Amino acid sequence: MTLLEVQHLKVSFPARSPAWGGARQLIMAVDDVSFTIAPGETLGLVGESGCGKTTLGRAIVQLQRPDSGNIIFNGKDLARLSRAELRAQRRQLQMVFQDPYSSLNPRRTVGDSIGEALDLHGLTDSSTARRHRITELLKAVGLETGVAQSYPHEFSGGQRQRIGIARALAVAPKLIVCDEPVSALDVSVQAQIVNLLQDLQQQHGLAYLFISHDIAVVQHVSHRIMVMHRGRIVEMGETTTVIQAPQHAYTQSLIAAIPQMDFTAQ
Ligand SMILES: Nc1ncnc2c1ncn2[C@@H]1O[C@H](COP(=O)(O)OP(=O)(O)O)[C@@H](O)[C@H]1O
Ligand SMILES: [Mg+2]
Repeated sequence: MTLLEVQHLKVSFPARSPAWGGARQLIMAVDDVSFTIAPGETLGLVGESGCGKTTLGRAIVQLQRPDSGNIIFNGKDLARLSRAELRAQRRQLQMVFQDPYSSLNPRRTVGDSIGEALDLHGLTDSSTARRHRITELLKAVGLETGVAQSYPHEFSGGQRQRIGIARALAVAPKLIVCDEPVSALDVSVQAQIVNLLQDLQQQHGLAYLFISHDIAVVQHVSHRIMVMHRGRIVEMGETTTVIQAPQHAYTQSLIAAIPQMDFTAQ
């Protein structure tokens, strides 16, 4: 069974400083990418900075228009849906960002930020139900329910990422694109957030596209791994296979760059 199928996706940007006498240049940020994600699966996406990971994630959640290719979610080609149908599908497709601070409104309480997601999709029909759901979501991500009245600046990076996850979770998604969700956090906090994402996956049957430049983190969380290099997927497979027997030279270099990698750790 397939939850998401990406077919031959291409996304380009105009080059910032066109060389060659101003001839029109394009950066192929995502260059003919195809893959699938099953319900409840974590697919890891790894590659160095600038290889196109964020652009791919943004295209999947419809924040970035692709040049060509198809994104089929729940069996529906997202490019062919009416606005109302797209909205309904888009709800089940959420994104968690590296820097939750930039995606949270500094003048809005945490409760209101989460409530906004509920309101947007008409998910609660009374203020009591809304309050109850916000409390439930804060508990689910390991925050005190009293924090609903606090503002983003009152929290640590790890707590803010929990708020970002609560907001994504609010609309009961089936797939969350996690774009470097722990890359800005201290190592000890990284583990807590990774564990939270794994617990939530178990409880809600969530699928993740887990994006990171760090193959050690990706290895830890992913059922399968996809390696991206200059906009292209150069390797894809079961996590243990990719880590223990990488086929592509680029994957081998990523693995070699990790100091003292312990293959027995899990
Ligand atoms: N909005 C944009 N306008 C122009 N170029 C962009 C834009 N977003 C990304 N790029 C370029 O696309 C390429 C891939 O970027 P990105 O998807 O952010 O990579 P990653 O997330 O792997 O670091 C880079 O060359 C980047 O400079
Ligand atoms: Mg990125």
